Amino acid sequence: MEVTGSPARVRDACDAARAGGATVGFVPTMGALHAGHRALLDRARSECGFVAMSIFVNPLQFEEAKDLAAYPRTFEEDHGVAERAGCDLLFAPERADMFPNGRPEVTVDPGPLGDRLEGASRPDHFRGVLTVVAKLSHLVGPCRAYFGEKDAQQLALIRRMVHDLDLPAEAVGCPTVRDPDGLAVSSRNVRLSTPERAAALSLSRALAAAANAVGQGERSADVLRAEMARRIGTEPLARLDYVAVVDERTWEEVTHVGGPARALVAARVGDVRLIDNVALVWDGGQGSR
Ligand code: PAF
Repeated sequence: MEVTGSPARVRDACDAARAGGATVGFVPTMGALHAGHRALLDRARSECGFVAMSIFVNPLQFEEAKDLAAYPRTFEEDHGVAERAGCDLLFAPERADMFPNGRPEVTVDPGPLGDRLEGASRPDHFRGVLTVVAKLSHLVGPCRAYFGEKDAQQLALIRRMVHDLDLPAEAVGCPTVRDPDGLAVSSRNVRLSTPERAAALSLSRALAAAANAVGQGERSADVLRAEMARRIGTEPLARLDYVAVVDERTWEEVTHVGGPARALVAARVGDVRLIDNVALVWDGGQGSR
């Protein structure tokens, strides 16, 4: 595995791989790799002849300097994970490699979806994500780029950007990796105490209950939202931020589940803000009440 901090080298290596006939798979990350990232790398490795991964703690997507400073940096371990997964190129730039002139003045506007849900709680977060993903995409060139469905709104916005700006990438969504008890794997989970971790299970349980209710024929999004909020609300260590049921295609809140939809939750457990979501599988009206 080659390790580089040079944007020009990434461009050359990916161009050379394509010239040799390989499909380039790209896994953008901020490091602190866990089982979710490993699943992205494994999927890229199984589908592509050349796999590139980036590790860059993107300053543009943090609102507060203290959160950026506190973000875990585990380069030695991450390097081992990437190597064992068969990654060909690890791009680990310094801030000055990515932004030699400091904070960029030209950025990607995420549009209205960037201000809702996660965007309402984290202003400018998605502008920062899309700006860096666009930049990385221009360096890597035509590729299949792998993202976790746990960050479903991020994935939806990246797909819109790819479409609206004709980026030469295909954004591939990969299922959320969960611990055996259902907790979605996240680099933030290590900050949960034992009782907080138990409380954090209220998120995945609330989502599972919503998916189950839809499977049983429940169609009212109000009922689903109320039940998810109730389940998380009964957990004293959890503070609910939002529950949502959105149309999978438009990302508008729905009143009625009558097509592909997604339930989303965000809550603070102790000091740790957690998000999770699940697809609501609509049965085409077979089980409608
Ligand atoms: O999901 C992440 O880790 C980040 O938001 C990403 C896509 C690597 C952009 O910095």
